[in-house]
Amino acid sequence: MADATSTASKHFLSDKVSRFTESVIREMTRQAMLYGAVNLAQGFPDFPAPAEIKQAAQQAVAADINQYAITWGAKNLRNAIARQMKAWQGIEVDPEKEVTVCCGSTEAMISTLLAVCNAGDEVVIFEPFYENYGPDAVLSGAKPKFVKLHPPAGDHDEWTFDEKELRRAFHRHTKAIILNTPNNPTGKVFTRSELELIRDLCLEFDVLAITDEIYEHIIYDGTEHISMASLDGMRDRTVTINGMSKTYSVTGWRVGWAVAPEKITNAIRKVHDFLTVGAPAPLQEAGAAALSLPSGYYAKLAEGYRVRRDHLIPALSTAGFRCFRPRGAYYVMTDISAFGFKDDVAFAEYLVQEIGVACVPGSSFYGDPRDGAKQVRFAFCKKPDTLDEAAQRLTRLRQV
Ligand SMILES: Cc1ncc(COP(=O)(O)O)c(C=O)c1O
Repeated sequence: MADATSTASKHFLSDKVSRFTESVIREMTRQAMLYGAVNLAQGFPDFPAPAEIKQAAQQAVAADINQYAITWGAKNLRNAIARQMKAWQGIEVDPEKEVTVCCGSTEAMISTLLAVCNAGDEVVIFEPFYENYGPDAVLSGAKPKFVKLHPPAGDHDEWTFDEKELRRAFHRHTKAIILNTPNNPTGKVFTRSELELIRDLCLEFDVLAITDEIYEHIIYDGTEHISMASLDGMRDRTVTINGMSKTYSVTGWRVGWAVAPEKITNAIRKVHDFLTVGAPAPLQEAGAAALSLPSGYYAKLAEGYRVRRDHLIPALSTAGFRCFRPRGAYYVMTDISAFGFKDDVAFAEYLVQEIGVACVPGSSFYGDPRDGAKQVRFAFCKKPDTLDEAAQRLTRLRQV
């Protein structure tokens, strides 16, 4: 038996966990609670979910849909997902063979990466990126290869990437590209020509596209959401990830999904089964009801967020932030140079503790934290009163 000293010297932890930190976004929510700050950090709505969906969930529990659903998802929900992909994007999906319902799109992403990546495979990721993709890559053994999204130069410009830089990121070890459109944190909505360019590289280098489309319905200014899987040549090499969290304002329900060709779906289903067995059964039934809402629901959702965006941005601009106007999703990335702080983390700490508003430091969206040192992100998925309160507190900020 090992003696006490040698046991005590073991740290018991895997090398993998040392390679990423806890979520900064979720930590900022805890700080907001600690300091009584307005939480514009984490992307969850502070207003009610649609009544019809809540009723559907209540009815499902009352009808005793309380045991495990089939591991890859309740049939009603899978059918509704297939119907929606056809209706919105013209993509034919076999709900029996190509859909895996998971515990949120978060689980759909990690299950997909675990299903497709071998140690050393490279995964191309645009940065700034949704912070989960970094740890996802580490956990699945993949090596992230970051490609920069450059901030808009002027108010009417968009976040862009350099075609040559993107091409340089692709080579024979590239397994996949993770694409998030509409994008968190930038609000960028990838255009058809940008997607075609990415498509051409995927075909040339035999690469899989894993697209996180969770903000599909939250788009502004006449932009169009285009699913990568709808492009010629991509149906067989795309995993489309989506979920209920953002579209139906139910981030705590934990229902998401991955849609992929049969072979890839089989692999995702295996991983998913042993990770979580299945997503909450009654909430999957409510999901089927949610996905059957009339199309007017989605127009109203997007317009509601457009109003919130146009509420928060002027308040941020007046306070001294340079705002990068989002075309989709419900975040605004900002430049904080005007305030003269050492970096984004020092600024975010000051903002939550002294001003009473929580944001997310830009560095948590970059591979190299220095790249985000002059940026912070605000979420505007909040009630008008919450945004008013934040705006009022921000008037106390001083520029240098
Ligand atoms: C781009 C993106 N993907 C996924 C998620 C998480 O989604 P879910 O609640 O379905 O796990 C978020 C949440 O903020 C997100 O911004």
